[in-house]
Amino acid sequence: MEKFNIAIDGPASSGKSTVAKILAKDYGFIYTDTGAMYRSVTYLALKHGVAFDDEAGLVALIEKYPITFSQTPDGQLVFCDGEDVTAAVRSTEVTNNVSEVSAHGKVREELVYQQQKIAADGGVVMDGRDIGTAVLPDARVKIFLVASVKERAERRYKENLEKGIPTDLETLKEEIQQRDFLDSNRDVSPLKQAEDAVRIDTTGMSIPDVVQAIKDVVAEKISQG
Ligand code: DC
Repeated sequence: MEKFNIAIDGPASSGKSTVAKILAKDYGFIYTDTGAMYRSVTYLALKHGVAFDDEAGLVALIEKYPITFSQTPDGQLVFCDGEDVTAAVRSTEVTNNVSEVSAHGKVREELVYQQQKIAADGGVVMDGRDIGTAVLPDARVKIFLVASVKERAERRYKENLEKGIPTDLETLKEEIQQRDFLDSNRDVSPLKQAEDAVRIDTTGMSIPDVVQAIKDVVAEKISQG
């Protein structure tokens, strides 16, 4: 298949990464989880004692500890300077502080530059909050996934149960709402649907149905040339 880029944006737990991974596999494209990059910076800040409001300190961490991805049969792994941080970047401490870290303009500049390099040759499915608006404004296909807070909290709750992480559904709802608010109201590249993105509300939809809906959009875009 011709190498083009697919940008998938949407709020926390809207199912972006699940469908992006399936699409990348089916098309033979590379999946890039940009949220994992902001999470990695947050992890590094916690590890090295850099304050979340210290923009220059955070940028220095990105320069000192390169963030890389590795594709394995078991999925994508994330590394900071060679350390496998795939699981560590999903901790509650990282999750609850990543919005503050990702609100810094200079942190975004650094990571957006790296993301644009990854996608420069096409053949990438990239998910995040600003992919269609800021990172890949020329992506051939742009999708904006949404789902109700209730459904997103329930999905996360089930995922956590499967991983053996005890959580409380009401707390999850509050955390999701808080992250939606912070991600949508920051000054730099807030979460916002690109004008030319196709919006899909996944509330009540199964994963295969969402994947198929996106494939239909891809087929239509490709047929338009
Ligand atoms: O998709 P996620 O939950 O792993 O993303 C973690 C955080 O990173 C999210 O709260 C907002 C931020 N983020 C961002 O600002 N821009 C992106 N392109 C991806 C994520």
